[in-house]
Amino acid sequence: MTKRIVIITGAGIGIGSATAKAFAALGDHVVVTDILEKEGKAVAEAIVAAGGSAEFLAYDVRSRERADEIVADVEARHGKIDVIVANAGIAHKAPLAELTDEKWDLTFDIDLKGIFRLVRAAAPKMRARKSGSIVALSSIMGVAYGWDEHVHYSAAKSGVVGLVRGLAVELAKDNVRVNGIAPGYIRTAQLLSEENSLGAAGAEKAPEFIPMGRLGMPEDIADVIAFLASDAARYMTGQVLVVDGGLLVGRY
Ligand SMILES: NC(=O)c1ccc[n+]([C@@H]2O[C@H](COP(=O)([O-])OP(=O)(O)OC[C@H]3O[C@@H](n4cnc5c(N)ncnc54)[C@H](O)[C@@H]3O)[C@@H](O)[C@H]2O)c1
Repeated sequence: MTKRIVIITGAGIGIGSATAKAFAALGDHVVVTDILEKEGKAVAEAIVAAGGSAEFLAYDVRSRERADEIVADVEARHGKIDVIVANAGIAHKAPLAELTDEKWDLTFDIDLKGIFRLVRAAAPKMRARKSGSIVALSSIMGVAYGWDEHVHYSAAKSGVVGLVRGLAVELAKDNVRVNGIAPGYIRTAQLLSEENSLGAAGAEKAPEFIPMGRLGMPEDIADVIAFLASDAARYMTGQVLVVDGGLLVGRY
């Protein structure tokens, strides 16, 4: 069997990096992409050093040209793209009074339109091959919670749910599946940011109200992404799975 070809955005750190390693451990070829070149290259090198297959490509998900270029390049060199994990995201804090059009647009450009650009570029050949799986990152802040001072983030992550549903229906006939993940509190740079999220003290306190009693780890998300992309999820499309240690169903 030939290796699956997997493109992951924002894969230099955090959930994206763990996801790259999870797919590599399954024997896939992973195209690690990010704006963080040093970190992204290190992830690809670590995979190769562990006996896996990976490469790094610099990719800012705000660029339509680069999305088209990456897809054409990977298709030309590997003959296909089997899986896309649209993971890149930012969660900048901005109280409503300071939420300028520029801040709103930046978050939407990365967290929502960035997914659309890559899928639009890759979909035609996936459809022609009648095969493909796409997993996009939403958030509990997009499917259930509101997040104060992060209205643009919550709105963009809710948008991911609509994007997943629309794409799922449009691509289903061609056997291209589209699903999403809504992580709870996951221990990454994003969550630990003092400026934009819980910070260290908040991360320390969060397990008190998470039924499973701990923050999620990037690997907890990566494994569910790998499941959604796998044949085990062959009859699933248009769904956004919450992976949160029981946070949403807890009664706090
Ligand atoms: N950590 C959490 O608790 C949590 C919860 C819910 C959802 N999420 C979502 O999961 C995804 C991964 O988050 P994380 O916690 O690993 O965050 P992180 O900050 O650790 O990593 C985000 C990655 O996205 C990349 N990125 C940012 N802007 C980019 C751009 N313009 N082009 C390409 N890459 C870009 C960053 O360089 C980084 O590699 C995000 O979409 C995030 O919103 C995270």
